[in-house]
Amino acid sequence: MKHTDIKVLFAESGKYENESVTVCGWVRTWRDSKGISFIELNDGTCLRNLQLVIEKTIVDESIVKPALATGTALKVTGIFIPSERNGHEISVREITVLGECPADFPLQKKHHTLDFLRTIPHLRPRTRYFEAVFAVRSQLSYAIHKYFHSHGYKYMHTPIITGSDCEGAGEMFRITTQPWNAKYGNEAEYYGDDFFGAKASLTVSGQLEGEISAMGLGKIYTFGPTFRAEHSNTPRHAAEFWHVEPEVCFADLHDIIEIAEDFIKSIIKDVIENCPEELAFFAERGEKGLVDKLNSVVNSDFAKVKYTDAIEILKKSGKEFKFPVEWGCDLQTEHEKYLTDEYYKKPVFVTDYPADIKSFYMKQNPDGKTVAATDLLVPGVGEIIGCSEREADLNKLKDAMIKRNMSLDSYNEYLDTRKFGSVPHSGFGLGLERILMYITGVQNIRDTLLYPRTVGSL
Ligand code: 4AD
Repeated sequence: MKHTDIKVLFAESGKYENESVTVCGWVRTWRDSKGISFIELNDGTCLRNLQLVIEKTIVDESIVKPALATGTALKVTGIFIPSERNGHEISVREITVLGECPADFPLQKKHHTLDFLRTIPHLRPRTRYFEAVFAVRSQLSYAIHKYFHSHGYKYMHTPIITGSDCEGAGEMFRITTQPWNAKYGNEAEYYGDDFFGAKASLTVSGQLEGEISAMGLGKIYTFGPTFRAEHSNTPRHAAEFWHVEPEVCFADLHDIIEIAEDFIKSIIKDVIENCPEELAFFAERGEKGLVDKLNSVVNSDFAKVKYTDAIEILKKSGKEFKFPVEWGCDLQTEHEKYLTDEYYKKPVFVTDYPADIKSFYMKQNPDGKTVAATDLLVPGVGEIIGCSEREADLNKLKDAMIKRNMSLDSYNEYLDTRKFGSVPHSGFGLGLERILMYITGVQNIRDTLLYPRTVGSL
């Protein structure tokens, strides 16, 4: 269907001014009076609506009438003229109704609550809010690919179906083609008869296969969906989220922290440059000062603090935390919030966590108690990156696995990377939705995904 995107009309208005153009889109709002009608049309290419001015001496009333309904899909031809109020608008000559929209279309009002919109996820892309969310999400994804490609990383597609549990936490969705059948005496027999002849799950992380790839390709990244069956019903947890995971050989913790900071600044800068209208919209609708916050993140250094020192800061804060703070405890949301929102007021890398609360693959520090790992915490959202130097020493890695009762046999191929030409290497995982929340100020992860998958909600 030959037509011009509304975004292109606004961007190249000089070229189209006073010319006849054809546009398509959906009616966002409309007004009708005796001789004239107005329609705000949106085609999803930009946040701005295009005003259609319909004079009934030019277009017959019988044609105009069915077009005046919110949600109706139209194809319109007219003259693209300058207008004092709107910059430009269309003086309509011809209207075709592509799809009528009856009065039970739920998006009649200008503003709906996000709670209400979650009940109609299939219609959320028709709203200004979600048009802005998905525009930033798309730009951010592109910026991520641009960053890694321009820095010499190979994009690897690691498997979604896996037989291993990367994080060792066991919170995985199992996949199977067979129902439980009492004829099986034990789990091994049951899984042995399943599609893969073994227990299979949806991956929680592409890291292990990422490491295997990097141990030959040098620098790689993965970017795809991962799945967590954790029962964390919070505004920051989704059962299905998009995970960015670079893996870099010949890099220690210090190097990967530098890469992570440069990467985060670069993708934020990209969104600032390419989504100014969306960010202005989020600043107006939600987080005041959003753009200043993002500019300041891009232009200043992130803070760094060792876990042990962070514990001291929390203890001296004078705050009454619900979860007591002791060396060895996992940092809870309230602790992270104090460090980012009150103490540092900017992104902070917390480094060198106790080995016992972190994963088996992290490099053991010489103190025998901590690992070369870091989480990047940001104000308002908390952890957006989990990162570590990997344990490159075969025996130390095996010891850490044995300590966690892991079966070494299931990880033979992974262990081979340490046996055959092991090198210092590091990587991190960034949750796309978490950084999207940080960049847009969106408060709930459910409002960053087209169809959020969370506990009790498919
Ligand atoms: O800290 P995590 O669990 O680290 C890993 O999975 C490592 N294998 C990454 C690596 O080193 N390659 O998860 C990494 C990030 C978190 O910081 C968070 O941003 C995101 O993934 N994440 C989630 N996002 C949304 N919902 C969930 N349930 C998430 N769990 C983790």
